[in-house]
Amino acid sequence: MQVLVTGGAGYIGATTAAALLEAGHEVVVVDDLSRGHREAVPQDARFVEADITDPEVIDPVVAQGSFDACLHFAALIEAGESMQAPERFFRVNTGGSAVLLEALLRHGVGRFVLSSTAAVYGEPDEVPITEDAALEPSNAYGESKLLVERMLAWHHRIHGLKTASLRYFNAAGAVTGRGERHDPETHLIPLVLQVARGQREHIKIFGTDYPTPDGTCVRDYIHVADLADAHVLAVERLDEHGTVTCNLGNGRGFSVREVVEAARRVTGHPIPADEVDRRAGDPAILIASSSRAEELLGWTPRHRDLDRIVADAWAEYG
Ligand code: UFG
Repeated sequence: MQVLVTGGAGYIGATTAAALLEAGHEVVVVDDLSRGHREAVPQDARFVEADITDPEVIDPVVAQGSFDACLHFAALIEAGESMQAPERFFRVNTGGSAVLLEALLRHGVGRFVLSSTAAVYGEPDEVPITEDAALEPSNAYGESKLLVERMLAWHHRIHGLKTASLRYFNAAGAVTGRGERHDPETHLIPLVLQVARGQREHIKIFGTDYPTPDGTCVRDYIHVADLADAHVLAVERLDEHGTVTCNLGNGRGFSVREVVEAARRVTGHPIPADEVDRRAGDPAILIASSSRAEELLGWTPRHRDLDRIVADAWAEYG
């Protein structure tokens, strides 16, 4: 297939672009490099520097190819930032997707895979979280992606667009050359590793009074290589399913303290931790049920061990 990958200079987009090439697909990456890194784009992919939110810019990019599918990663991702400037998230994530979809439909691209998020669920009533859980985002980031999922349902119904919405839990780990680099960094594992590298004095543990076994929040860390595999399977199997929405997680939860301990084992650094107040808007426990992805996509996460996930991130930026 010829595949258009938006946001293919970012952490998950670039990893997936490489996996698509590996699987024998042709890849064109579009990224405006506002958050992505040019050197993360695989060499065998064609690269176009362009902003997907501008119809004048994206339409010719789509027109020039003969794309079988689009994998859409280009988006703003910081939930905290979305609570300061929600308008930006609705413009880039929701509006940008609307602009992109219009161009894809105009030029007959019939398959679309959305980089969605566990943030569509908000605070869950039950864990593990299935796709049937209530959709009540607790931040504007989650809402901005949920609105895209809803758009896709209409495009499927009206235009027959084949769609997959993949709701990621906590992406982590790395493949060679494509580590996680956000600026500013807010994610737990890269921050912990910054302490081990001596770039930060200690890690702050946000809240130790959650109703969890050790009092700190529990998250489902899924290796980015496993996420990439799921995208390749999703795009290859879209014709079978027509439309599909799947969680992508490890199915195992790890607490903040367990992540810090894993990083101590992996790096050999003491990683001092400072226990501080809760961060606003953090649910206590987010663990995915990925049984639908396993059943429909034939996907199984291969790198489920926390030490392995942290070691791969460390190998990239240690
Ligand atoms: N945490 C700390 N200290 C830090 C940073 C984070 O204790 O310095 C804690 C957080 O409170 C949270 C956990 O570590 O309990 C993980 O936090 P991250 O910021 O790494 O990730 P989040 O779970 O907040 O969010 C991530 C993505 C979202 C996505 C969500 C889905 O950033 O986009 O996972 O589970 F929606």
